[in-house]
Amino acid sequence: MRKNLVLGLDIGGSGVKGAVVDVAKGEFVGDRIRIPTPTPHTPSNIVSAISEIVAGFKWKGPIGCGFPGVIRSQIIETAANLGGKNFIGVNLAEEIGRACGCEAWIINDADAAGSAEINFGVGRGRRDGVLMMLTVGTGIGVSMFSNRTLVPNLELGHLRMRDKALKKYIAAEKICSDAARKSHDLSWQQWAGRFNKYLQYVHSLCWPDLIVIGGGVASKSDKFLKYIKADCDIAVARLENRAGIIGAAYEASKNI
Ligand code: BGC
Repeated sequence: MRKNLVLGLDIGGSGVKGAVVDVAKGEFVGDRIRIPTPTPHTPSNIVSAISEIVAGFKWKGPIGCGFPGVIRSQIIETAANLGGKNFIGVNLAEEIGRACGCEAWIINDADAAGSAEINFGVGRGRRDGVLMMLTVGTGIGVSMFSNRTLVPNLELGHLRMRDKALKKYIAAEKICSDAARKSHDLSWQQWAGRFNKYLQYVHSLCWPDLIVIGGGVASKSDKFLKYIKADCDIAVARLENRAGIIGAAYEASKNI
């Protein structure tokens, strides 16, 4: 691997983002490229978007890619917010490899973001224990580390919570993700009220020592942090929305 460089990618519901990452430092080398996630959300459309980013960087080396769904043995098992069934059973790493001629590694997006934060962000120099990372964007992604070891594919964004208006239980991410805040036109205080209930729920099940809040909302912490109440330490992701890309590249460097 040339000078510890890996191309990190983060596939999201609204954008596909990429940057060259120095995986020894956990830092971007140069700028990020973002292109809107093409619709319909199909593997071939996503691979085309990735090819465009790879070509934009004239990249020939290894690729690490965060995907918003469960990944087991490089196979996509779920994709709740991205084309649903279209991706199930797909080995996206192989597809990217075929299209771009580069070796690729896929990881759940929240697992990638958590890995970046634990190694290069808020987790750096922290005592061991149970750290949980929540990425709050189109959905809610969750990763958990016990003494710095990842427990992968923790899909706690899909815990059921009661939606007062609908009078039924639905996935928590439909109630308190950033997308839900925008689509229900909630103030930050209203959103934090919902999110606090979710934090309490997750805490009562997993008892983490620290919860790191990341994803799209991380850069808006001045607007919501004052309303957040939790039964454990809370921190805002230090790498903000770079975490997913950095973590995907870092994890690929360990696995390719
Ligand atoms: C997916 C998770 C993902 C999260 C954030 C959820 O809908 O099920 O796998 O980490 O969204 O993108």
